[in-house]
Amino acid sequence: MKKIVLSGIQPSGTLHIGNYFGAMKQYLELQDECESFIFIANYHAMTSIKDKNLLRNNTIDVALNYLAIGLDTEKVTLFKQSDIPEVCELTWILSTITPMGLLERCHSYKDKIANGMSPDHGLFAYPVLMASDILIYKSDIVPVGKDQKQHVEVTRDIAIKFNNTFGEILKVPDIRLNEDTAVVPGIDGRKMSKSYDNHITMFDDEKTIKNKIMSIVTDSTPLEKPKDPEKCNVFALYKLLATKDEISKMRENYLKGGYGYGHAKKELLNKFFEFFEKPRKKYNELKNNLDYVELILKKGAEKARTEAVKTMQEVRKAVGI
Ligand code: ADP
Ligand code: TRP
Repeated sequence: MKKIVLSGIQPSGTLHIGNYFGAMKQYLELQDECESFIFIANYHAMTSIKDKNLLRNNTIDVALNYLAIGLDTEKVTLFKQSDIPEVCELTWILSTITPMGLLERCHSYKDKIANGMSPDHGLFAYPVLMASDILIYKSDIVPVGKDQKQHVEVTRDIAIKFNNTFGEILKVPDIRLNEDTAVVPGIDGRKMSKSYDNHITMFDDEKTIKNKIMSIVTDSTPLEKPKDPEKCNVFALYKLLATKDEISKMRENYLKGGYGYGHAKKELLNKFFEFFEKPRKKYNELKNNLDYVELILKKGAEKARTEAVKTMQEVRKAVGI
């Protein structure tokens, strides 16, 4: 039997190449060999977005991103989290066995509060909703970036506690991280994130992308001097996009000197457009075909819901409701 893969991304803003290399690329790698459920976590995004039009537009935009990068809906079930109301029911049931301490330890919650978000219940309970997303489809593998690792560990703990309390119903999932792209740096060298505004998106217009790439922070080594590629953000991003030979060529250029950061940025820019040429074309086509995108999401929701309902029947019986 094929393994079940599940993952989602919050529609809390434009997706970027950190999301692509940290999470989305893994969906592409797994779609042939596994049964994949990929969704748009719009309930989760409500912890940061309180504007209905923004939430709606962002939700569709994540769907466009998923389809444009090459998710094949013949193989992947693509849907919106909010089309599966059972997930909220399971969240409540899981909440009743989730120790407070488990949630209090979550870095993501602490970081968000430290960054000025209001400490409301939704933000605190966020990992329980995420556990519910994962467990309701009996997922085997959860491909995510490194910052979501702890949430998958919380999910495992919740599943084990549920099974110990009510019987072996839920599957304990495994995380999948792409170690070499677990944290993609942003243009200022910190983790790429929309909340730091240091991100490069896949689908912005050419001028915006050029401005972003040209403003990647580098040190002040003069053009003629040799440079250390391993300490450079431009090289770190080039490594994600280029072939092995192209990477060694750029490494040599850095080491031999006479090669400036401006040259490297131009090469990165060209590589970027080459790498994302097809997805960018597809994104623009899909933008003019939103009815098709809605239809895909509707079909995906029907399939996902069938699975969710099955699990909920077992869960309800096990807990006595
Ligand atoms: P952001 O930090 O921009 O708000 P999200 O938290 O919505 O991004 O992340 C969505 C997915 O993309 C998660 O699986 C996350 O681990 C992954 N991801 C986000 N940023 C990066 C990054 N810079 N490097 C690697 N993976 C990332
Ligand atoms: N919390 C994840 C993020 O911020 C999104 C998410 C919600 C998710 N539910 C999930 C990821 C279930 C994997 C599995 O990116």
